[in-house]
Amino acid sequence: MTLELLCWRRMVSYLESPCIHRKRTGGIIPTVAQQLHRENIERVVQEALERSGVTPNQLSAVATTVKPGLALSLGIGLDFSKRFVKEHNKPFIPIHHMEAHALTARMLQPISFPFLVLLISGGHSLLAVAQGVDDFLLLGHALDEAPGDTLDKVARRLSLTKHPRCSTMSGGQAIELLAKDGDRTRFPFKTPMGQTYDCCFSFAGLRNQITQTIMKKEAEEGVEQGTLLQCTNDIAAATQHTVACHLAKRTHRAILFCKANSLLPSDSPTLVVSGGVASNQYIRKTLTIITEETGLQLVCPPAKFCTDNGVMIAWNGVERLREGKGILSPDVNVCYEPKSPLGVDITTEVKAAAIRLPSVKIKIPN
Ligand code: KG4
Ligand code: ZN
Repeated sequence: MTLELLCWRRMVSYLESPCIHRKRTGGIIPTVAQQLHRENIERVVQEALERSGVTPNQLSAVATTVKPGLALSLGIGLDFSKRFVKEHNKPFIPIHHMEAHALTARMLQPISFPFLVLLISGGHSLLAVAQGVDDFLLLGHALDEAPGDTLDKVARRLSLTKHPRCSTMSGGQAIELLAKDGDRTRFPFKTPMGQTYDCCFSFAGLRNQITQTIMKKEAEEGVEQGTLLQCTNDIAAATQHTVACHLAKRTHRAILFCKANSLLPSDSPTLVVSGGVASNQYIRKTLTIITEETGLQLVCPPAKFCTDNGVMIAWNGVERLREGKGILSPDVNVCYEPKSPLGVDITTEVKAAAIRLPSVKIKIPN
């Protein structure tokens, strides 16, 4: 259980409703998530306040995730926060989960707007230009599933929870670990969307390729589904490599689009990569090859700030508080939104530009 909540001393308290039991169940079951949130929210808030040594009255505001996400979990956080801000008469700051992921890097080092951001998690993959705290241009998004979801499902299909080295890890972490001892060239999966010259992402077809390979290998090894395959490490390595290449190619095109349209500063343009999948070192190295090729600075927050965490929601609250953006009175009626795109969608313009990529060798030693 990792429902996270801490207190931002004297500035803002925050409630985030992240993926909680993913590791135990291999995925999120909405009703279980809701129950865990309901059972724990009061205690977690109390503990956060006590550990921070602040009383509710010393808080400047309360920032809470209201979109996008699981309705049942968002509802628990929002209802609790509404009662809390009314009781203590505090301003309320509703937070967009992806905006929070995008801004986390600014908490750790100065990064001025505008910058390019790649957000990759279990629920999302998107490329956007962050032009201000609440001002984003959406260049590309997931057409089917998100990369973390793909990694989790492949890990589940490979029965990695039965693997002694990774029984307690998330799917993505397990694949990264096993890939270190694998040969990625043994299974040359096709990188998705090679003929589509935009910045959107698709992982469902890749997952299908991987599943077919797993079925073939099960037949060859004469084992049932649910048994660890001898070639598990090689499949993990090939999966990770293909996911990394797909992310790198879409990001490369986004950089070229930004350059062609002067969307980034010419002086030290920056790519921020965040979300749970961004903690993957192989993916980071692959993206480094692209940023070195294009002259961008790559910024990845440390793993603990890449995966869902309460600090990023608090920081988003701080950023909005500083600029006086989206700060509501305690009695305002806010609703949660399970689906909510980030910023202004310019994916059609990106597609129309149909930028071809120069070839870049992605070669990373294990
Ligand atoms: O951002 P996050 O904590 O939650 C949301 O999905 O919003 O991301 C969780 C996702 C999971 O799918 C998990 O498998 C993936 O991030 N993940 C990783 C790694 N650590 C976590 N994927 C690849 N490599 C990792 N090291
Ligand atoms: Zn997230």
